[in-house]
Amino acid sequence: MIGRLNHVAIAVPDLRAAAATYAGTLGAEVGPPTPLPEHGVTVVFVRLPNTAIELLEPLGEASPIAAFLAKAPSGGIHHLCYEVADIAAAAARLEADGARILGPAKIGAHGRPVLFLHPKDFNGTLIELEEAAP
Ligand code: CO
Repeated sequence: MIGRLNHVAIAVPDLRAAAATYAGTLGAEVGPPTPLPEHGVTVVFVRLPNTAIELLEPLGEASPIAAFLAKAPSGGIHHLCYEVADIAAAAARLEADGARILGPAKIGAHGRPVLFLHPKDFNGTLIELEEAAP
């Protein structure tokens, strides 16, 4: 069911500093900061030949990233995003298998539907599923 690894997300305490590290020290192609208020984050995408890195900084009071950074102040890997062909079909299959979906599907950073899966059902890894562009 899952397809390509769309991105690995890293929570960071300072998005500008993290983007500068990727652009400078690591020599990567780094996009602009993009606020996503509905998700409580500002994101920067680092484009790699085979996948992407999503740098996440908290945005707003109720950011889901704030608690993560409270436990890991220097940042850390936050989630993996896999592509699926059909998010509704993926959700139905996951629910039938007893996996816990965190909230309803939303529109994600790429303008495509996304949903998140409980890390306790997937070896301690928060998983994002993104419906691949047709
Ligand atoms: Co993501």
